[in-house]
Amino acid sequence: MRLAGKMVVLCVTGGIAAYKAADLTSKMRQAGAAVRVLMTESATQFISPMTFETLSGYRTVVDTFDRNFAWEVEHISLAKAADVFVIAPATANVIAKAAHGIADDMVTTTLLATKAPVVVAPAMNTGMYDNPVTQQNLQTLRERGFHIVDPAAGHLACGDTGRGKLPDTPTLMHGIEKALTPQDLRGQRILVTAGPTQEAMDPVRFLSNHSTGKMGYAIAARAAMRGAEVTLVSGPTALAAPEGVQRVDIISARDMYDAVISRADRQDMIIKAAAVGDYRPAEIAPEKLKKGDGELTVALARNPDILAELGRRKHPGQLLCGFAMETQNLLDNAADKLRRKNCDMLVANSLRDKGAGFGTDTNVATLLFADGRRETPPLMSKEDLADIILDRLLAMQQAQLN
Ligand code: CTP
Repeated sequence: MRLAGKMVVLCVTGGIAAYKAADLTSKMRQAGAAVRVLMTESATQFISPMTFETLSGYRTVVDTFDRNFAWEVEHISLAKAADVFVIAPATANVIAKAAHGIADDMVTTTLLATKAPVVVAPAMNTGMYDNPVTQQNLQTLRERGFHIVDPAAGHLACGDTGRGKLPDTPTLMHGIEKALTPQDLRGQRILVTAGPTQEAMDPVRFLSNHSTGKMGYAIAARAAMRGAEVTLVSGPTALAAPEGVQRVDIISARDMYDAVISRADRQDMIIKAAAVGDYRPAEIAPEKLKKGDGELTVALARNPDILAELGRRKHPGQLLCGFAMETQNLLDNAADKLRRKNCDMLVANSLRDKGAGFGTDTNVATLLFADGRRETPPLMSKEDLADIILDRLLAMQQAQLN
């Protein structure tokens, strides 16, 4: 989480979802952010300022009639110090005021003064949310560059069912982090594959590998955070789908082939981090295989090579990034793979390197490029390596355009 060291001004306005802002405060603080809470008077009817004071470690600023000079200075200094300004929950009222520049309390005067990115998380009754005036106000805010975190649909406190629920904390944190992240991949369609494949032998057994999917998931998460439209074709893993990513679940290499090839044409970048099984049992036994006394020989059939097929189909302007995991002759094998499969870039991992390999949170890899360049970034988190991979692909794309 990249909220560490950031100064977040969190404005809590008066709706029943105000209690959820307490969890948000706590989680942001745990992520290393300094959280300064401002509340409207009506918000204090739903939750006590003391709750936020305890969770944030700072005095909660509440709009009061006895505002004095010091408070006025405080709101301007908070507006200046904020790295990001968050209104969660945002009532229809505060959204309307923000859209029209009305500044009549601590929250709205501070908002008007800030130059920080603003994240608005609407939460209200469905009728109020769907009302054209609220929608128009939200549209005005979007056009002014505010980041709107759309409400979830479901059961609402008023008994209605529909859109208007404040999203859960991870979704809010994702929206806040996104507002702090340059959207340099906006408009790009990126397909990422991740995880192992499973090749069935019989109804209870399969052949697979040790991939956990962490590298591919990190790439998908960072690409979405940087604004790309991301499809993640994933084999079976224990990982949750990253926020803002469309995940397509597959089991076998042939499933992955179908899922990837059917979506390939419309992608700007395809990054194949999955550990695809090269072979599958030639026959899937319809019933469980029973053991005998002697050896069991299983005939294996070749799976299609998805990356090679993508290399054949690649259209001008599309970038293809493969991965190679080797135990020997890493760079020679990788260079050969890059050429054979018509990739623009190949990320070569050695299973023998400390800090690399299956299930780790770090990776060391050598990036090989089609023009012969090579780069070996130091040992770093899979997320940081994901950013470097995306940076290099973006640079290649920009170089092609010029
Ligand atoms: N890959 C693929 N389809 C396969 C096998 C591999 O798309 N059936 C992709 C992987 O996602 C990875 C790259 O190919 O991006 C390299 O995988 P690897 O198994 O190392 O490559 P192979 O060409 O199968 O090499 P080897 O000769 O080492 O078996």
